[in-house]
Amino acid sequence: MALVSMKKLLKQADEQNKAVGAFSVGNMEMVMGAVRAAEELNTPIILQIAEVRLKNSPLELMGPMMIAAAKNSAVDIAVHLDHGLTLPTVDKALELGFTSVMFDGSLLDFEENVKTVQKVVEKASKYKAAVEAELGVVGGNEGEGKAHKILCTDPVKAKEFCARTGVNALAVAIGNAHGNYPVLPELRFDVLEEIDKTVDTPLVLHGGTGITDEMFRHAISLGVRKINIATASFDHLARYAKNYCDSVEKANYFDLSAQQVNGVYENVKRHIKVFNNKD
Ligand code: 13P
Repeated sequence: MALVSMKKLLKQADEQNKAVGAFSVGNMEMVMGAVRAAEELNTPIILQIAEVRLKNSPLELMGPMMIAAAKNSAVDIAVHLDHGLTLPTVDKALELGFTSVMFDGSLLDFEENVKTVQKVVEKASKYKAAVEAELGVVGGNEGEGKAHKILCTDPVKAKEFCARTGVNALAVAIGNAHGNYPVLPELRFDVLEEIDKTVDTPLVLHGGTGITDEMFRHAISLGVRKINIATASFDHLARYAKNYCDSVEKANYFDLSAQQVNGVYENVKRHIKVFNNKD
């Protein structure tokens, strides 16, 4: 299997009435844990990293590692830039060989978002890479900073946006938010249903951490084909690392590294099973 285009994985997910998991990574252990889970379940995944995370995990180090992991994997893997915020970062990801990039223009006005995403689509087409964009505002914040107020995606605007930009995936805002939810979110499945009826483009659900399995299945039944998970993997890694350090008198790097891999592996495996939507 191989490094593949996100388009292929979204098409397969649509044919199989499931969603492909897009798992955020920040170090080698996270990459290894996610790939191990995907291989064990024989399921393609997307490995992704968001622009705000590049302070901790530089693109020029993470990118080649993510791509190498995909190329050496027993399953198909797409490598994706999550929440690209600037065109130079999009360029850099494409040059490194990412098979997909997101440009997040959700805080721009509609016309500005359309124009910038059109530019990204043109850039990506030279690399045969896929493009994801966002319309409406997903709550919380990917990374530190002020939490954004949720603004649900307008289905009519979404149709126009997809037609004018030609994006391969559209991130929707339906009450979802990045980070841990303080209370169980009330997702607007009525809005999602309208978007699904109006738009042919595969839909993406951000803010997967804390959403229940039942909600995931409902979202998949309404056209969600990519689901993003970040915080839950970061939290699992930190918890497994802490538990290990607390359990021994003298921690060693090698066991600590293995525990980080295990933490991410467990979280990714759990989510892939739900997204495969088999039972
Ligand atoms: P969570 O951190 O809530 O899982 O969100 C992930 C995400 O949407 C990344 O873009």
